[in-house]
Amino acid sequence: MSDDILNAQDRLEEMMNRAQSGEDREMARWVRENGEQLVRGLLGLIRMSKFHHPDNKAFEKPSVAVAKVLAEVINRLGTAMLVFVEDQVYLNDIRVRYEARLDLGREMSEFFAAFHVGGITFHQAISGNEMAQLVKYFGSYVGNRPTLLKELAELGFTHVELPGVHRFLKPGEVQREKKDATIREVQAVAQSAVSRVMLQATQDRLVDLLSMRKVANRLVDAQDNDMIELETQDSANSTFTSHCMNVAQVAVGIARNLGMDENQQADVAVCALTDDLGYGMREDGYATPFERHSSAGVRSLIKRRGFHESHIRRMLATVDHHASFAEDRAQTPSLFARIIHAAEDYDNLTRFRSGAPHISPTQAVTKMSAGANTEYDPLVVQAMVNLLGKYPPGTPLQLSDGRFGSSVSYVRTPESFAKPLVRIIGIQGDRAVPTDETIDLALGKVQVVRPLDSMGVVYG
Ligand SMILES: [Fe+2]
Ligand SMILES: [Fe+2]
Repeated sequence: MSDDILNAQDRLEEMMNRAQSGEDREMARWVRENGEQLVRGLLGLIRMSKFHHPDNKAFEKPSVAVAKVLAEVINRLGTAMLVFVEDQVYLNDIRVRYEARLDLGREMSEFFAAFHVGGITFHQAISGNEMAQLVKYFGSYVGNRPTLLKELAELGFTHVELPGVHRFLKPGEVQREKKDATIREVQAVAQSAVSRVMLQATQDRLVDLLSMRKVANRLVDAQDNDMIELETQDSANSTFTSHCMNVAQVAVGIARNLGMDENQQADVAVCALTDDLGYGMREDGYATPFERHSSAGVRSLIKRRGFHESHIRRMLATVDHHASFAEDRAQTPSLFARIIHAAEDYDNLTRFRSGAPHISPTQAVTKMSAGANTEYDPLVVQAMVNLLGKYPPGTPLQLSDGRFGSSVSYVRTPESFAKPLVRIIGIQGDRAVPTDETIDLALGKVQVVRPLDSMGVVYG
């Protein structure tokens, strides 16, 4: 095994060990114990709310006690995120144990499931009074989750979040249903999810990685479509979302070419969607500059405690997603970071950004190939070339039938490496515009005369 791989493994092992070290085990125990107190206290209040009038003095003392536990948890963990999954309760990803005969989890799940709520996240401590108000509100509430969220916000509980219902998979149930969405449909869904997560980072909140995971899964599924259209400049999405989605899409393709399974591809996509969260973090009220956005991103991710391997991988990918492959042989960036670094640069080179180089997809691939072994992991560059082909999506082409087109597919088979699907481009006045017509060069009737370096209309 090469030194690089051994070094990378050592580094990962070191991180994992540190995460599982004595201090963190002690922390896990602390979370479990306080989690139990918190759940027990909350449930006690909920039960009371069923029997007592909201103004009953009996609420006062226990509400103050629950608020106190909550304050301690937030003080130590930054956020208190309770999740109910059937009969189990988790506090910040750590399972809360309680006496089985009490069945606290089931009662909690059932109570909140009535509003389609599967947990509570407190981003800030609240007073005993507010705790009483909140529980009384839950106790008398009839309705669904969206209305509940709206009404809570109106009451001033903007730092309390209520995620949807979680459940375990049934035996034989596949982990995720395949949705036959096009990339464009996934991009539309991603817009709001990515913006929301960015806002959470800006507000110093715990980011909703579950929504990123959903986008990532759908992105992996959508890769099965032949037609790949990267985000265009004039799409309705923000530049930031377009960037995140393009990077995630190319990163998923590279991961697939490297032989990773669909779950690993989705893990890579989540990393690609969240590695730039650091830009949302504030430094003394100002936006974080490029130089520090990677470490700021880790600061945002680390709010989520817990030692899950994918969490560690996400942080490693974020911290190194702009690091050169060979700059520091002792600290080779993690594989995910190496994949994202390539996908990230490919998007940056081929997307218009004022004041930055903007080159055609074929030029970008040539330029990046020259950096294999120094700036980029050579295997990752090879996987990227295998994905994008001779004429990557977005490449303007002159065709043998006298027309012009733009490539809209990744490599579908080794034989079609230089024969993509092409969307025909028409001329309207002095503008080149995409038409609805696509042709498959793999059928052999039409060939590429040459790729054009101009950027013109590149995406259908
Ligand atoms: Fe980026
Ligand atoms: Fe970045």
